[in-house]
Amino acid sequence: MPNSEFSDDQVLNCWHKNAHEWTKVVDNAAIPSRRLVTDAAIVSTIIAHQPENILDIGCGEGWLSRKFAEQGIRVCGIDGVKDLVDIASARAGANESYRHLQYEEICAEELEQKFQLMVCNFSLIGKDSVEQLFSNARELLLPGGHFIIQTLHPHQACGDQPYRDGWRPGSWEGIEGDFDEAAPWYFRTLESWIQLFHDNGFAIERISEPKADILSPPSSLIICAKIMQ
Ligand SMILES: C[S@@+](CC[C@H](N)C(=O)[O-])C[C@H]1O[C@@H](n2cnc3c(N)ncnc32)[C@H](O)[C@@H]1O
Repeated sequence: MPNSEFSDDQVLNCWHKNAHEWTKVVDNAAIPSRRLVTDAAIVSTIIAHQPENILDIGCGEGWLSRKFAEQGIRVCGIDGVKDLVDIASARAGANESYRHLQYEEICAEELEQKFQLMVCNFSLIGKDSVEQLFSNARELLLPGGHFIIQTLHPHQACGDQPYRDGWRPGSWEGIEGDFDEAAPWYFRTLESWIQLFHDNGFAIERISEPKADILSPPSSLIICAKIMQ
């Protein structure tokens, strides 16, 4: 059942309220699936492309940007929550810069620079904001540029609900912390993710499903796409 009580504004509002608690979670590596599987999976996927610069969209407190900056890659991180951008900026080294922007505001004129690769690590949460970001994505990248996302695996995240796109309530289940209300999120099927790339001028090069071990269910879904010529 589509849930119209949720909105993109609510997503950012909730992340705003949880910014400091979220930073503690990341600092303490308190999410087992991230510590054991998904952090390493996104880092190795990106490093395999050997980018010289990266746009980290929905960068949060900046752990992923810092990881690449330490390796000499220039990174621009963007997030819609000012407290998270301030935390990332305060921790930034030479190769990093951060901007406080919502996805709807990210466009070529605003950034004044194009990138070889853009990444969204568990940061594509809303509906219209995400669709707007995808519609501007090509112009943020250099020719041949890559767009890589890591997100909840739709088959794992679907739970008991019907397998179709729609808003869902958020939850901090399984993550320890003194959180405020969790952000709602817009569930997309695998077909819908693929369509979103295709409709916005990207060809999918690879889909991967990182797992803790051979018998485990996938911990996430990673989609690597390249600008269509
Ligand atoms: C789960 S956190 C992930 C942060 C980071 N990528 C990481 O791997 O830890 C989701 C992030 O997406 C950001 N975000 C979600 N929707 C956004 C929007 N419409 N505009 C800007 N940032 C957004 C949130 O503020 C939050 O920092």
